[in-house]
Amino acid sequence: MLNILLFGPPGAGKGTQSKKLVEHYKLHHLSTGDIFRKEINEQSPLGRIAQHYIDKGELVPDEVVISMIEEVINQNPKAKGYVFDGFPRTVAQAKALDTMLTSKKKNICIMIVLDVKREELIRRLLNRGKTEGRKDDELHIIENRIKVYEEQTAPVFDYYQQQKKAFIINGMQTEKDVFKDVCYYIDHFSQCT
Ligand code: AP5
Ligand code: MG
Repeated sequence: MLNILLFGPPGAGKGTQSKKLVEHYKLHHLSTGDIFRKEINEQSPLGRIAQHYIDKGELVPDEVVISMIEEVINQNPKAKGYVFDGFPRTVAQAKALDTMLTSKKKNICIMIVLDVKREELIRRLLNRGKTEGRKDDELHIIENRIKVYEEQTAPVFDYYQQQKKAFIINGMQTEKDVFKDVCYYIDHFSQCT
């Protein structure tokens, strides 16, 4: 089972590269942000909880995120693997994911980190805000999302770095060149159990 963790700050290109990866390797795309936005659209109870946090650029509480992920993984027992996009975002989430996968004799094979400068992140997200109208793509919320990433999510990198699974890629290249690098690392450095 090929489980890929795509990691990086808001606007780094996780969603863009995930779409290419799921097609190329025939995997499931698991984006917690996308799931929350769908629930918000449907005005479900989970959507109402998530909206409260997303609108401020804060993280949805770990217990909500973890039980949601558990459900998705249990619902797809035949999956060839996952591209995890925007999850895990805290060390507690990373540990919970490891426990879930270990119980199924699976693991995270590789973490790919998309490295993009802060000014470029802001430029991309403001631009997307204008064209796609994602509500959290507004300057003061973007700035908080980046702050939350640096304070609460960046430690997840150290967690996988200690397992020697983290590889950093220059995310400032064209989408095509980023994809080439991502595939190179997946093909040569994945450590799947
Ligand atoms: P989430 O939906 O995960 O958003 P995010 O992490 O802030 O990241 P984005 O989706 O904005 O960026 P991306 O890296 O996917 O970049 P993209 O490919 O779109 O989370 C949203 C919220 O949900 C969070 O703030 C939180 O509240 C909550 N949440 C989600 N998961 C959670 C969790 N696990 N725990 C707790 N809370 C959680 O690209 C961005 C733009 O750049 C696009 O317009 C794209 O076309 C462009 N672009 C992409 N690549 C390139 C390139 N190489 N060159 C130029 N432009 C590019
Ligand atoms: Mg995304």
